[in-house]
Amino acid sequence: EDMKDVIHGIKGLTELENALESKLNLKKVLVVPGNSDESELVLKDMGRTAAKYLKKLIKANNIIGITGGTTMAEVAEEMPKGKADNEILVLPARGGLGKDVETQANSIAANLAKRLGGNYRLLHVPDNIEQEAIDALLKVSEVKEFVDIIKKIDILVYGIGRADVMAERRELPNETIKKLIEKGAVSEAFGHYFDTSGNRVWESMTVGLSLVDFKQVKNVIGVAGGTKKAEAIISISSIREDMALVTDEGAARKILKLV
Ligand code: G3H
Repeated sequence: EDMKDVIHGIKGLTELENALESKLNLKKVLVVPGNSDESELVLKDMGRTAAKYLKKLIKANNIIGITGGTTMAEVAEEMPKGKADNEILVLPARGGLGKDVETQANSIAANLAKRLGGNYRLLHVPDNIEQEAIDALLKVSEVKEFVDIIKKIDILVYGIGRADVMAERRELPNETIKKLIEKGAVSEAFGHYFDTSGNRVWESMTVGLSLVDFKQVKNVIGVAGGTKKAEAIISISSIREDMALVTDEGAARKILKLV
């Protein structure tokens, strides 16, 4: 750990963190060395750093929301085992199952809860369903109850993606992808797509955390790195001032060139 702090200092990561906090107007920024576009180890390090930060924030009876993706999978995986506090509950923040079970928010929430010795609940609702189907689902008491609990999330940990990459990954129709790009979408988080200034341009059709809900969560922690995600991170940072960001040097240096 001491060696890590020394490296942190030598590489100027503290300066990077301070610069990002003021330029992006964020509550807290943590930067790990390296670029996760180039190394899986950097992704792991980001996961570990975010997990540590999260663990310190957790209080008894907290409800923790988490999203899907490879970064969130690492956050859960790197959470040290051991009871955080009694009676915590972990939930996937939003529907959307995806094809890969390891990176589904459900699996990630379950893994995180087990590591923290807490409870979890799962949400089985696919992405991109018709409005009529959503309305019908919300009449199912189990789903309705879930969506109500989501509104009570105390801490949200979420991945940030590039709009183009996430649209492809979610296999959105070409027509929709074209519209997204035309509207200037550069980022995606919790199923919402935003332009550079943080205006929402599109929302995937499922149930769960809404943008209004997001703005009301007490503690939000965005985790994303890699030079390629710089613009997406800037975009998401403009949605909430008091968010914490865990990122890497690759993204951090690129962001400072752009803002
Ligand atoms: O919503 C954005 C995604 O969670 C980012 O996914 O961590 O696999 O890049 P990723």
